[in-house]
Amino acid sequence: MIGLFITFEGIDGSGKSTHAVKLYEHFSHKFGRNGVLLTWEPGGWSGGDLMRELLLHHEWRPWSEFFLFMADRYEHVSEKIQPALSEGRIVICERYTDSTLAYQGWGKGLPIEEMERLFSLLALPQPDLTIWLDVPVEKAMERIKSRKVLDRLEEENFLYKVRNGYEELFLTNSERIKRVSSEVSEEEVFLEILKVVGVFMDES
Ligand code: TYD
Repeated sequence: MIGLFITFEGIDGSGKSTHAVKLYEHFSHKFGRNGVLLTWEPGGWSGGDLMRELLLHHEWRPWSEFFLFMADRYEHVSEKIQPALSEGRIVICERYTDSTLAYQGWGKGLPIEEMERLFSLLALPQPDLTIWLDVPVEKAMERIKSRKVLDRLEEENFLYKVRNGYEELFLTNSERIKRVSSEVSEEEVFLEILKVVGVFMDES
């Protein structure tokens, strides 16, 4: 077992859930279900439902929102992610610190470096590999509308800022963050993800 931390990132409607599940199935097949943990933020821990309710159903001020996401993450890391990594499992997580930088930073204007300092203070583990599923905002909006789950975080202008944030993160962390275009068919996207993961595993 290798102990690998892989995150999926992207704006709402970019297909993260679909591909995180597919990658989980792929690794489970290879290493057995016990070798892989599939999890998500916000909410992938024992108190996560409560936290999601709190986070997604109230209009928080940006710093309050940030600290709620951080509390969620600290519990999640302590309860699930860190133990799984210590046991040498592969952890696949939908959204993580890059979501906070993109949404609360680029989206809502909180200072990036200060947020990163808090990540270090909490000794949050860094992902080994981050797959950024990139989709144009217009396309994401179509997908979101067709799912009829438009909520306050999913407005078009906001998503433009968030997508720019992901692009900036990708450009400044190109070793860790790999861009996969999610504009093509589901099968093609997943093949590209497997390619990226394969290259990463060969190199490490
Ligand atoms: P998620 O459940 O992943 O929604 P979706 O499936 O639509 O992508 O995330 C819920 C929302 O929380 C999403 O709009 C992104 C936002 N979010 C932040 O703003 N900051 C964060 O740190 C995280 C983890 C999520």
